[in-house]
Amino acid sequence: MADAKRIDGKAFAEGLRERVGAEVARIKSESDVTPGLAVVLVGEDPASSVYVRNKAKQTEEAGMKSIEHRMPMETNEADLLALIGELNGDASINGILVQLPLPDQIDEQKVLAAIDVEKDVDGFHVENVGRLWTGGDALVPCTPFGCILMLKEELGDLSGQRAVIVGRSNIVGKPMAALLLAESCTVSICHSRTHDLEERCREADILVAAVGRPEMIRGDWVKPGAVVIDVGINRIDAPEKGEGKTRLVGDVAYDEALQVAGAITPVPGGVGPMTIACLLRNTVVAACRQNGLNDPAL
Ligand code: GUN
Repeated sequence: MADAKRIDGKAFAEGLRERVGAEVARIKSESDVTPGLAVVLVGEDPASSVYVRNKAKQTEEAGMKSIEHRMPMETNEADLLALIGELNGDASINGILVQLPLPDQIDEQKVLAAIDVEKDVDGFHVENVGRLWTGGDALVPCTPFGCILMLKEELGDLSGQRAVIVGRSNIVGKPMAALLLAESCTVSICHSRTHDLEERCREADILVAAVGRPEMIRGDWVKPGAVVIDVGINRIDAPEKGEGKTRLVGDVAYDEALQVAGAITPVPGGVGPMTIACLLRNTVVAACRQNGLNDPAL
């Protein structure tokens, strides 16, 4: 069988960012609104630092205002809540993102609940989660939204497809299920306690891997012709590249799955770049709603 099609998330994300940039330019020319995004990072986790830097750079490249708040690891909950209160009240800020995970002394749910629902560009506030599951006007979590855009590009109409998600996180697994259900897929969420996990995966027309375990899903777990979306980003040792070297792999054994799947997202260069592009898109959507402008065509 021929190798699977490699879904180029990087190119797809570049296209979306260009469309976001064009919408920002239009909004700026037709109103006095410049969409603004605030990103809050507590602590110095190196991977989170890289994400935050990339978010700021791409926000500015799209013509938007970007502000960044870096707080020390020992920040207390009250100080973080006070900052969120300020950002909620700042009309030049349309989107607020608090980078997760937060240090142990801070209650994550309390922080997410403090963000103004209309500025919650991550879509993690319980009200946005509720709107997502009930078909309301939600701001939708960025990573799953990016996955849906790529799936629709690949497959067109998703209705009736059997979708299996491996992973039940609030950030990816659960919102991914809501979005696939809204596209009329038949959806299963599998996890570490699932019986016969390999069998469940083999039933999938659409297989979404979001477990955070390097190359856990093997080629023979994939149904021939299935579309595989690999959300995992895992850094592993790569002694073949030299001593102390590392490389990034997904949750899927890519080389194996490539032989079986119809299409597959690589790591890196698949889902990852789509997440920030969708964050920019959500920020523009939020800015329009907050200023009584029509929803952008994004
Ligand atoms: N940490 C890992 N993914 C995400 C995300 O999408 N948003 C936030 N805020 N934190 C994250």
